[in-house]
Amino acid sequence: MQLTKRIAEDTYYVGASDRRLALFENIYPIERGVSYNSYLVIDEKTILLDTVDHSVSRQFMENIEYVLDGRTLDYIVVDHVEPDHCGVYEELVTKFPDVKLVGNAKTIQFLSQFFRFDVAARAHVVKECDSLCTGKHTFTFVFAPMVHWPEVMVTYDSLTKILYSADAFGTFGALSGNIFADEVDFEHEWLDDARRYYTNIVGKYGVQVLAALKKASGLDIAMICPLHGPIWRKDIAWFIEKHRIWASYEVESDGVLIVYCSIYGNTENAANYVAMKLAEKGVRNIHMYDASKTDSSYLLAECFKYGRVVFAAPTYNLGLFPPMENLLLDLKAHLWQNRKVALIECGTWALASGKKMLEILCSMKGIEVVNDTVSIKSSAKDSQASEFDALVDAIVR
Ligand code: FEO
Repeated sequence: MQLTKRIAEDTYYVGASDRRLALFENIYPIERGVSYNSYLVIDEKTILLDTVDHSVSRQFMENIEYVLDGRTLDYIVVDHVEPDHCGVYEELVTKFPDVKLVGNAKTIQFLSQFFRFDVAARAHVVKECDSLCTGKHTFTFVFAPMVHWPEVMVTYDSLTKILYSADAFGTFGALSGNIFADEVDFEHEWLDDARRYYTNIVGKYGVQVLAALKKASGLDIAMICPLHGPIWRKDIAWFIEKHRIWASYEVESDGVLIVYCSIYGNTENAANYVAMKLAEKGVRNIHMYDASKTDSSYLLAECFKYGRVVFAAPTYNLGLFPPMENLLLDLKAHLWQNRKVALIECGTWALASGKKMLEILCSMKGIEVVNDTVSIKSSAKDSQASEFDALVDAIVR
């Protein structure tokens, strides 16, 4: 059965959701699934804006056949070549052998790398700000390199004022009937996943995202149609502002984040003491995570959200306990920056985790370590209270 929805003049949602996939990109847990969005515009020429992952290809093919209603497909705009949006090109070019693939030079190069069919013969190559008229609709292609791959472009339809934004403004989470952001409680039920999606997928490319936002600011946008998650037609400025904050590595929310690892509970005890003291000092919005239990994609998103972070970790194999090392290296890889951090280390016969944490954090931009690392020998003692109090004071300041 077809699952399509008309979203604007001549314009239909033809994507589909996947609730079976456990790990997006085989790395990020997606308990709420993910949608692969695609849009079909029926004009004098028919034009498809991106496609879907292979996992939902059967539903997608049924959707576009329903909307095409016997017509052929003239164009496919390839805003992004990552396979989660390119799982059905073999089927499409077989079914519509005259279809033109609209993309820039890099798009065509990448498609040729992925597929065996003759991409060049079907290529309609565009340059920055080129337009394509399909009858009533005119589509303009604006390049957005590194949001999230170098070939990425976004497409603007001047008739409907829709911005087809590729990965930008996307989120994890399958769609459940309501395909518009204003039909769901986005701030309370989706924003955390949107932040986790943004920070993990394109968090490294803040400079490029800001450049893309600047280009988009010149457009009169009535609707943003991303490749994942709900479509935006209200409160667009609010969601754009969230992206500006994330892309600028600014602090989104007041509060303190405590991320710890603990092998036998002693480092956890120290982390709990710090949390208690922070609360006594009037700090609210304190969030604690065990990095051994929490996937680092969640921790990375939380680190982007808050401005003050306490890291506490034991020594392991004369180095840093692996879940903490993985997290710090992940933060470094995503260019996490401009934050205040405090450190607690633990060890029985050799204290090395503090030095290792410092080494990684000091190699990052704008990370201010606000305390001398508090060292716990096996377990924290009441006699160390003043050291912890100094850490707490430094974080509160
Ligand atoms: Fe949704 Fe970069 O692909």
